Amino acid sequence: MDNLEHLVTEAIAEFAKATEPARLEEAKSRFLGKDGSLTALLKGLGKLPGEERKAAGSQINTAKGQIEAALAARRDELRQAQLDAQLAAEALDVTLPGRAQSRGALHPVTRTLERIEQLFRSIGFDVADGPEIETDWHNFTALNTPEKHPARSMHDTFYLQDETGKVQEDVLLRTHTSPVQIRYMQAHVDKHRHLPTMPEIRVIAPGRVYRVDSDATHSPMFHQVEGLWVGENVSFADLKGVVADFLRRFFESDDLKVRFRPSFFPFTEPSAEIDVAFMSGALEGRWLEIAGCGMVHPNVLRFGGIDPEKYTGFAFGMGPDRLTMLRYGINDLRLFFEGDLRFLAQFQ
Ligand code: DAH
Repeated sequence: MDNLEHLVTEAIAEFAKATEPARLEEAKSRFLGKDGSLTALLKGLGKLPGEERKAAGSQINTAKGQIEAALAARRDELRQAQLDAQLAAEALDVTLPGRAQSRGALHPVTRTLERIEQLFRSIGFDVADGPEIETDWHNFTALNTPEKHPARSMHDTFYLQDETGKVQEDVLLRTHTSPVQIRYMQAHVDKHRHLPTMPEIRVIAPGRVYRVDSDATHSPMFHQVEGLWVGENVSFADLKGVVADFLRRFFESDDLKVRFRPSFFPFTEPSAEIDVAFMSGALEGRWLEIAGCGMVHPNVLRFGGIDPEKYTGFAFGMGPDRLTMLRYGINDLRLFFEGDLRFLAQFQ
């Protein structure tokens, strides 16, 4: 029965050659299948005489058992190899550093606005806002700005178009936060109409404003903080005190010079511009303009519904973007509005 041994050796070799389960099953059928070599031998047993048939049958069965065992072993090997390959492909390198979740932070201008609000709230100011799309009346007329004033020209002001693309002369993007003065005065008067005397108005109005302007120190969108204090006997001395005290607290420095330089605004009389100078640091000794201010013009009080014979008030409008540049030593305003994280992340 030499050829039986040969058959077993051949089967084991064939199984070893199969590197995929499908090939292995093909090899199996060549030996154990219906037309397989071993099946053929078993079929041939019937032709043998009794004694011989018994001996041959047992030998063939032994060989069959060996082949089946080899097949089962090879199946296990292939299954294991497949598993190993899958594990290798899906391997995780647990020593890789994790992907950090970076933390968000407030924009530097937002931080300045929050700081300004906090400082003014601490001396009893309310914080208000108004629409960024304004009427010409609130933005100019009620602020005593003449019909022919240059600020009203298309070179300085963004006007809005109607659906047909036609420019609407009475709707614009507010060019300053001053219209909030008018809106606030009117609402305040209305709210306290039932009282014999009007409570004082003390309010700031931070927000976005728009002008047709763009260079290192001007952006078409920028921020302002309006301030308004109206009451009986409110004076220019109060204005100076409030603003100077605010600036020292904002910059955390008593070494700060504050100067009121005569100026002109249609909505205040007298008017001034406010300059600051630092006594130390990179900007030492240089005067920098940070706000406009003045005593509220009687016409503006009247438009707000307030009797200028009975009440006086001061107002100011400052540039928080400018204050932020000074506080952090930044020389280009556009950096604030480009959204570049390399710049913004430095303020975390
Ligand atoms: N609205 C002025 C501007 O945008 C700034 C300003 C000046 C506001 C004087 C005021 C003020 O309230 O009294 O240039």
